[in-house]
Amino acid sequence: MCGIVAYVGPKDAAPILLEGLQRLEYRGYDSAGVVVSNKGLKMRKVKGRVADLAAVVPARFKGGLGIGHTRWATHGAPSDVNAHPHLSGDERIAVVHNGIIENADELRAKLEADGAIFLSETDTEVLSHLIARTVKESDSLEEAVRTALKRVVGTYGIAVIDSERPGEVVVARNGSPIVLGIGEKEMFAASDVAALVRYTRQVVHLEDGEIAVLKADGFNTFASDARETAKETLTVDWEAGHYDTGGYEHYLLKEISEQPDTVARTLRGRLDDRFHIAHLGGLNMDARETRSFRRVKIIGCGSAYYSGQIGAQLIEELARIPADAEPASEFRYRSPVVEADTLYVAISQSGETYDTLAAVQELKRKGGRVLGIVNTVGSAIARECDGGVYLHAGPEVSVASTKAFTSTAVAFALLALHLGRVRDLSPADGRRICEGLRRLPDQIKEILALEPQLQELAKKYAEAPSMMFVGRVRGYPVAREGAQKLKEISYVHAEAYPASELKHGPLALIGPDMPTVAIVPDDELLDKNLTTLGEIRARGGRVLMVGHRAVDPKLADDCVVVPRNEIELDPILLSIPLQLFAYHAAVALGRDVDKPRNLAKSVTVE
Ligand code: G6P
Repeated sequence: MCGIVAYVGPKDAAPILLEGLQRLEYRGYDSAGVVVSNKGLKMRKVKGRVADLAAVVPARFKGGLGIGHTRWATHGAPSDVNAHPHLSGDERIAVVHNGIIENADELRAKLEADGAIFLSETDTEVLSHLIARTVKESDSLEEAVRTALKRVVGTYGIAVIDSERPGEVVVARNGSPIVLGIGEKEMFAASDVAALVRYTRQVVHLEDGEIAVLKADGFNTFASDARETAKETLTVDWEAGHYDTGGYEHYLLKEISEQPDTVARTLRGRLDDRFHIAHLGGLNMDARETRSFRRVKIIGCGSAYYSGQIGAQLIEELARIPADAEPASEFRYRSPVVEADTLYVAISQSGETYDTLAAVQELKRKGGRVLGIVNTVGSAIARECDGGVYLHAGPEVSVASTKAFTSTAVAFALLALHLGRVRDLSPADGRRICEGLRRLPDQIKEILALEPQLQELAKKYAEAPSMMFVGRVRGYPVAREGAQKLKEISYVHAEAYPASELKHGPLALIGPDMPTVAIVPDDELLDKNLTTLGEIRARGGRVLMVGHRAVDPKLADDCVVVPRNEIELDPILLSIPLQLFAYHAAVALGRDVDKPRNLAKSVTVE
């Protein structure tokens, strides 16, 4: 949610900032801007994409210090004026910001009373005016930023430059990520390593409350009380190539297609053929502790939450521990009862979704034991948790989650196997699940080969104004995620219901204009699902069935048949054709597949 890039060094900053912003565009893409310092501040900002900004940044934009921003609007509509950076009235200070300043109105009123003239509707502009005042009474830009931030309530990742100090940039973090990149006689900062990996793999994550001063020859970090802090440098193993489309038309298709490999990576080194258990080195729990939990509570947002529902089902089935999933945003606001014998699991691809992070912090404050299932190594949620499982799925760039969703479900299967095998899951069932997990990558390849069929079906159904998705028990989270994929990237309205709930209301919607995608695994509920198909067809509804064998043409207009695995693991495979269906529906409708309207990938605000 909003991307920030900063550079200080011997090269011209502008091309580096633009390149970095392009990499961060998944975080927000309604407007963008850059400012460089070279005998005064030179700024360009536009409503639109980073490419629109690049078109208006002149070649004469020289200077080795600069900051840039790509925006997802919160305060004030997307416009040239509301785009970041924001300057102080005297054009001495420039600020880019990710997050929300909660007391912006109050600060703005005070600053206006003091003579400040605001140009934008943003909360960020109060920061540039505030810092322009504190800088006059401070010995350093760092001190000026620290003093200004003491008056600010809210969340921020910020980068600040001062035209009178052309050799340094100051960044600060509270709730919104900032990562420093260490180069050869040059320093970078960004909201995400994606913007840095072309230049350096050596990174340092800032903690909440920290401020960093970056100069070409190094950096210093400080706590909010001005004490210098010691930081650990991490080497990131994601490469620049991971952020390219790799010859695919869209990141989304690339990421769907990568799943045989990404699932293999999530499984790598984690299956034990001797005891038929999963080895999850990051859990930081011994067998006795692992046995002591009586409940599992899973939290996450969006697709992460739906993968958590698949996870809860897996844990109940394999470990026989009561488990359920809840949106992290709901959980954190309802003053949850936190119990010592509950294992909490937070899911996040990015590791920085604010609602999930805040829920983890609330849990920690109440003494809860929290595991993270996270893709981004070293991210805020990963660091906040007591232990966890990394997905190793590589960076996910497209706003809609696909490979991270699948790898999260696979990580839950590993966790469920682990919890089950220290309890009552028999070695034979443990082996069955291990073998099933090993089959997944090849079976995903088989499903990907169904793409031509799914493309045709997507074209056929994409014309519908609205679609229903139904599933029972194991199939229900699959239906929910299928509906989510379709609505977020194709803008076709889609609803997901438990199949048995149809008759309690939504059946009234069914008719020729509202086709249904039905998830019909070959499990003990097959007959019940077939009855539901009959009920839909009897009301004139069209049915696209996704399951393990074609059904009577009287029950479904179209059937997508996917390979069968173990029944507990089948939801993982059944989700994949729905990704391809949504992708091709979005393409058929001419949507902006990787950057759907109004959305952002990392939602770092409440
Ligand atoms: C946003 C994205 C979703 C994603 C959700 C959670 O809403 O658009 O695709 O599922 O955030 O993201 P996380 O990084 O926490 O998994």
